[in-house]
Amino acid sequence: MAGLRFFALILLIVGVSYTAGQEDDFLYGQFPDGFLWGLATSSGWDADGKGESGWDFWSHENNGSNIADGKNGDIACDSYNNYMADVYLLKNMGADFYRFSLSWARIIPTGKLSDGINPAGIQYYNYLIDGLIANEITPFITLYHWDLPMGLLNEGGWLNETIVEHFADFSRVVFDAFGDRVKFWLTFNEPHVFCLADWNYGIHDPFLEPPEKPYICAHNVIKSHARAFRIYDEEFRPSQNGQMGITLNCDWSEPKNQSDPEHMLAMDRSVNFRYGWWANPLLRGEYPAIMRELVDAKSEAEGRNSSRLPTFDSTWTEIITGTLDFLGLNHYSTHYVLPSDGLNGWMDGDANIRSERDPAWNSSGIGWSVVPWGLRNITTWVAREYQMPIYITENGYGAQESDMINDEERVNYYRAYINEVLKSIVYDGADVRAYTAWSLMDNYEWTLGYTARFGVHYVDFNHPARPRAPKQSAIELSQIFADNGFPLPK
Ligand SMILES: *[C@@H]1O[C@H](CO)[C@@H](O)[C@H](O)[C@H]1NC(C)=O
Ligand SMILES: *[C@@H]1O[C@H](CO)[C@@H](O)[C@H](O)[C@H]1NC(C)=O
Ligand SMILES: *[C@@H]1O[C@H](CO)[C@@H](O)[C@H](O)[C@H]1NC(C)=O
Ligand SMILES: *[C@@H]1O[C@H](CO)[C@@H](O)[C@H](O)[C@H]1NC(C)=O
Ligand SMILES: *[C@@H]1O[C@H](CO)[C@@H](O)[C@H](O)[C@H]1NC(C)=O
Ligand SMILES: *[C@@H]1O[C@H](CO)[C@@H](O)[C@H](O)[C@H]1NC(C)=O
Repeated sequence: MAGLRFFALILLIVGVSYTAGQEDDFLYGQFPDGFLWGLATSSGWDADGKGESGWDFWSHENNGSNIADGKNGDIACDSYNNYMADVYLLKNMGADFYRFSLSWARIIPTGKLSDGINPAGIQYYNYLIDGLIANEITPFITLYHWDLPMGLLNEGGWLNETIVEHFADFSRVVFDAFGDRVKFWLTFNEPHVFCLADWNYGIHDPFLEPPEKPYICAHNVIKSHARAFRIYDEEFRPSQNGQMGITLNCDWSEPKNQSDPEHMLAMDRSVNFRYGWWANPLLRGEYPAIMRELVDAKSEAEGRNSSRLPTFDSTWTEIITGTLDFLGLNHYSTHYVLPSDGLNGWMDGDANIRSERDPAWNSSGIGWSVVPWGLRNITTWVAREYQMPIYITENGYGAQESDMINDEERVNYYRAYINEVLKSIVYDGADVRAYTAWSLMDNYEWTLGYTARFGVHYVDFNHPARPRAPKQSAIELSQIFADNGFPLPK
């Protein structure tokens, strides 16, 4: 019903009519008033007393052989020295907000508050936040974007429950230092990625053995998020009055055959093992029922005396339940899912699913399927399942190193994907409040090194000053931001 109401509104605004049978067509119209447009990057530069992170360590080990091009992120796009230039790029684009992450080790070098704070790290973020605000760009901060202080990794990292209180300490320092000016917080970026990544556990410790590690990591991440949320609620929200969420990555899992109920169930399992794994406990106090059932049964079949999926005791259940003001969604691509016997990869194996791609789908430069409508499916799934405001915190197109200024595929990608967000609002009644393009500029793309370019600004990594230049996609996004969507062409 909500869909129909919005539908009528659009009709009024742009004077175009659509019927349900034409939902696949491009939808002209604007986003709701107050919708926020922004761009994102993450941190990771070494300077002024920053401690070593697990990521710094991993990218240097074995002469960089862990990274596609053997390079590390020490300098990357050098935002550390260029932050004001980046603020102007955002201003030129007319962005409402800038999503960036803090480096824990820059603020607390060993990760432990008892070892002391690095004032230069706080100062750096103060400059950036003040520069943004002076230019009317809202800072949108991610507390943790994968770079764990080495001091904590050496003590088991996310597998050691004591990290929960270290994260709580870190969050308090951050709210205290920046919360007077920062009103949008994300605790974690894509825990599904770092809890499943070998670099999260240290180099000689691949994640597959033993297979309970990602579940323990997740358990501690969920507790850490909840502690930060409670600290914010009790000590800071009354005076600072901000919003807090978590960013979960979820590509869409389209059932291979929608007429087959088994394929529909495979879709449901897939999304619950990816998105529900985190959203369910943080909103409802427990893991999705289907995860509980399957992982418990498999653990028993493996002869274990307890499930690989831990449980929250009553104290923790109370602490974690209802600790989100909004849900973040990072989305890039889509695949088909179908039931399987659970033998391919432990995560999909636990969920009994197999994925496939459709050969007819376009591929991005780095081989990810370009399927714009999948963004509408996942947005609407999250909206219906959790009835929460949704912030799209990442979406973007990865190209090869050769990607230059004329990035037509990226322009097409943004237009088509953003249009599907509009459809999820207009046709499905999803409460989407923000859209974030990844990324403001080409950057160091984790294990892909500099071999993948996601930026809407081109960065010359061979030039000492790392000059940036807007690509076509930056111009296209600026127009969409200015128009708050897609007015009918004149
Ligand atoms: C790293 O490279 C240096 C110089 O090429 C070489 O001497 C050293 O053995 C390499 N180390 C490893 C771990 O591959
Ligand atoms: C867990 O962390 C605590 C303190 O941070 C440390 O004393 C302990 O040794 C760690 N446990 C493991 C297994 O590393
Ligand atoms: C899809 O599933 C339905 C119901 O099981 C089945 O009748 C149909 O043959 C399937 N289609 C394909 C292409 O396999
Ligand atoms: C359960 O299994 C673990 C690991 O194999 C073992 O250390 C523990 O003693 C067992 N507990 C019980 C109650 O059997
Ligand atoms: C797929 O690629 C073709 C050729 O570049 C392009 O015309 C089309 O718009 C693309 N489709 C999507 C969904 O991006
Ligand atoms: C996903 O979206 C497509 C395009 O809108 C639609 O045809 C399909 O039915 C959706 N899938 C599911 C499972 O709802």
